[in-house]
Formats: sequence, structure tokens, C-alpha cells
Amino acid sequence: MKELSSVSWQLSTCQVIQNPIGIFDSGIGGLTVVKAIQAALPAERLIYFGDTARVPYGPKSQVTIRKYAADDTAILMRYQPKLIIVACNTVSALALDVVEKACGNIPVIGVLKAGASLAVQVTQNKRIGVIGTQATVCSNAYAFAINQQDSGIEVISQACPLFVPLAEEGFINHPATKLVAEHYLSEIRKQDIDTLVLGCTHYPILRQVIEETIGKEIRIIDSAEAVAYRTRELLSESGLLNHSTKTAIPHLLVSDLPQKFSMLYQLFMGSELPDVDLVEV
Ligand code: DGL
Repeated sequence: MKELSSVSWQLSTCQVIQNPIGIFDSGIGGLTVVKAIQAALPAERLIYFGDTARVPYGPKSQVTIRKYAADDTAILMRYQPKLIIVACNTVSALALDVVEKACGNIPVIGVLKAGASLAVQVTQNKRIGVIGTQATVCSNAYAFAINQQDSGIEVISQACPLFVPLAEEGFINHPATKLVAEHYLSEIRKQDIDTLVLGCTHYPILRQVIEETIGKEIRIIDSAEAVAYRTRELLSESGLLNHSTKTAIPHLLVSDLPQKFSMLYQLFMGSELPDVDLVEV
């Protein structure tokens, strides 16, 4: 009897190892996290949901963001994920508890905590800048997460709401992006920060312009790599790392399929668009 249950435990663990990692964001921004996970863990099956019909989340109220977070999680839960990654700082800041509750025993990783921890490790002068959506900045969640680890760090935040539509438009090196970056970053540039957290997963898409505008001497933190590291750590600790030698292709779900989605995907991911399913929200 005991042997049988140990066989069935092994079988169920094997099945879970094959299960996908679910990742979601409001739009294409979370693809920056998909790219980092793919590079770190190429054998893992990834299911990505981008809520392209309802992007942007940043200017919305907390009530709406929490509702969207519950919907997004429910969509990914249909695929029996072994782990959920919230590749959206806005949801990580305002609704991580909603996702955790909906996931039950399935572990959840949010980008915000990973980015905050990396920034704390990197800063030398203990002055960290954070840029993010209106909702993330107003929540003060970054300052809270950073000061929980080191209360002596000064956090200077700036909301940059136009960066999200500029990224969704693919305006990577566009003069409009440069102009907007000058406008948003002019104050934070005077604050003697040595580290700047890209506190929105859309922002790494505009990294070059942000870096040029803020100054190359300032260390930029993109939480995607920190999330990939934490994902490997968590799966390995729980014996759920997929050791297959095959490279998995991500499965994409979107709530709307904009015409330029394929072009944007190729631009950010450097590969052809895989199968995309349209889901209703
Ligand atoms: N990419 C998301 C974030 O990290 C959301 C941006 C938005 O939809 O406003 O906050």
C-alpha cells in the first residue's frame, strides 16, 4: 500500500514537473519576463497571458486592478500551472494577495519584490529611484519593500504613464519617446540616485532611451532577471525543475489580437510569433 502511494506520488510529481509556468501582464510588457525565463530555463513550458484588451492597468483604480488580477489568474489556472509569475508591477503592488488566494497551494512570484531586493543589493549611496505606473507609484509598494530590507534607503519615485502606450506602439527609439523621457526623468535626475528601478515590465522595452536620458552612470534594475533567478531557485527547492533537453516554445494567450502584435513580438523576442489563442475576459 505504502509502495503504491509512493509510486503514485512519484507519478504526480512527474506530471507537475511537466506542467507549465503561468505568466501574466496587462499587455506585451510581461514578454520581457518571458524572455528572461526562457533564457534561464529553456526547458520549461510557459503559458503567457497578455490582457491586451484592457491594457493599460496603471491609470485604473485599485478595485478594477484587483478584479483584473482575479480574471487573469483564473485564465492561467485552467492550464494547471506549477507556478504563477505576476509579470506586472501594478498587480504585484495592489493585488498580489488576490492572485495568491486564487492560486491556493501553487506558488506565486511577483516582479516587485524581486526588483526591490536587487536594487537594495546594488545601491552604494542608498538613494534609489523607482519609475512605474501611476497605480504602482501611488501605492508606495516599492518604498515599502525596499525599506523593509533597509530602512536607511531613500526612495524617490516617479510615475511615467505614457511609457506604456509608447512601448505598446513599438516606439522604441522614437523622438516622441525621448521627449517624454526628458519630461518624466528631469526631476529624478537631480536627486543623486545611483540606481533606477524599471518598476513596470513595459519599461525595459524602452530601456535604451531611459538609460540615455537618466545617464549611463546610473545602474538600471530590470526585475525580469531577478524573477528568472527566483523561479529557478523555487522550482529547484521544490523538485519541480524540468530537466528536459528540449527547448519549449511559449504558448501565448491574449484578450485582443492587435494587428501589430506579431511585429512587436518579433521585435522584443527576436523570434517568430508562436501560436496565439484569443481568450475572452
Ligand atoms: N506592465 C505593467 C506593470 O508592470 C502594467 C502597465 C500598465 O498596464 O499600465 O506595471
